Amino acid sequence: MTALQHVRLGTYYVMPMATSDDFEEWRDHARRLLMADVPPDRVAWTEPGGSAGDLFSHGDRRLPVPDRDAPQPRVSKRFMDIAKTVLLNSDLERFSLLYRVLWRLQAKPRLIEDMADPDVRAMADMARAVRRDIHKMRAFVRFRVVEEEAEDGSRGEHYVAWFEPFHHILRHNAGFFTRRFANMRWSILTPRGSLHWDGETLREGPPATRADAPGGDPAEDLWRSYYASIFNPARLKVGAMLKEMPRKYWKNIPEAQLIPELIAGAQAREATMVEKGALDMGERPETLDAINKAIHACARCPIGELHNTAVMGEGPQDAVFMIVGEQPGDQEDLQGRPFVGPAGQLLDVHLAQAGIDRSAAYVTNAVKHFKHAQRGKRRLHQSPTAKEIDMCRWWVESERMIVQPKLVLAMGASAARGMLGRTVSITKARGAPIPLEDGSELWVTAHPSYLLRLDGAGREEQERLFREDLAAVAARLAQLQAA
Ligand code: URA
Repeated sequence: MTALQHVRLGTYYVMPMATSDDFEEWRDHARRLLMADVPPDRVAWTEPGGSAGDLFSHGDRRLPVPDRDAPQPRVSKRFMDIAKTVLLNSDLERFSLLYRVLWRLQAKPRLIEDMADPDVRAMADMARAVRRDIHKMRAFVRFRVVEEEAEDGSRGEHYVAWFEPFHHILRHNAGFFTRRFANMRWSILTPRGSLHWDGETLREGPPATRADAPGGDPAEDLWRSYYASIFNPARLKVGAMLKEMPRKYWKNIPEAQLIPELIAGAQAREATMVEKGALDMGERPETLDAINKAIHACARCPIGELHNTAVMGEGPQDAVFMIVGEQPGDQEDLQGRPFVGPAGQLLDVHLAQAGIDRSAAYVTNAVKHFKHAQRGKRRLHQSPTAKEIDMCRWWVESERMIVQPKLVLAMGASAARGMLGRTVSITKARGAPIPLEDGSELWVTAHPSYLLRLDGAGREEQERLFREDLAAVAARLAQLQAA
């Protein structure tokens, strides 16, 4: 049947979606409709729990028969990418909007680039709303601890969170939470369904209600004190804050209850800070453990907002020697430990050659999250900006204040900036100590990743300089330890 015949005969189709968030399912239906030449205004879509409305109550519930000779639909990658996000929107209209745009794309392949087009704009708005919701869930899910008895009789902790998403983002966000809380047993309950992770397997469960989730517990106090400590009155923008954390989320987020109080105290606190000539970030954490907890929740800069694993430094808390890199790489992000990937392996070889025991050093990074760009399946390293390094200085400085090393080795320009708060040239600064305000010394050298990017004579020369730097550091360490 041609499009004209569908119209003339008054044929309507009701496309029942079995799921609300399965893009493949929508795509298969849409392809079939397109190949049967069914115009968008002859189709109504339903999803679980919904209806197609009166107009379509007599719709044809059979699926249209695709015309075997019909050409394969034309779809650009750009359309597909946006469509996958739009499909997660909770507006029932999304299915027909997507089909209408797909239909129109056949005659106008570049339609998706036309932001003046109302359908394209509507798609962009829906996709934006979904992305916001995805981000909100990542930022605002708060777990409560429940003590539970396992089948073998042992007692264990189960972390349970309640969250109310606006859109169908739960399944989409599952990978984020399993990676981020890989070693915890947790459940996320929502009115749209639930996720349960036991440390190995992810299970989906039915929708839940608020009453299924536990109430407050001591973890809330932790969150509250953390939030109060990072709250920066100098950056208080009430309107923006309400936009970012709509009131809908307030009741489920312990720290949100502090907001009125914090706003009230903000002006006074800011005045004191300005008087002191400094805009600090709140109370310094007093233990490495507290830093570790805080950096996992840190989203002060755009890298933190990517919500990768925050990688904490590691090593003895009383180490004499501290090594600082730039930021975790792909492997470090996955394993949650600094310098375990290729740069770390090269570092290990050079440390061993210089006679430095890595296990006695405190090894950390200037920036705690992996900044990267996703290219297909690969995550490509991106250098942090000076601003991002400066935002993260708070953490590496806090680590240094707790560990109190006598000698710090900063590898690369980002690490040096993280230590000094200003940019230095590695070529000029290497080979001699830079005194730090607490009496310790900073030494700078190249970053091992820089060596890995070189080859031939350039690599040999840089490795030689790196070796010399480490030898000088080893000699100075021996003096400091003997003193
Ligand atoms: N590069 C860094 O700067 N730090 C790491 O932890 C790994 C690679």
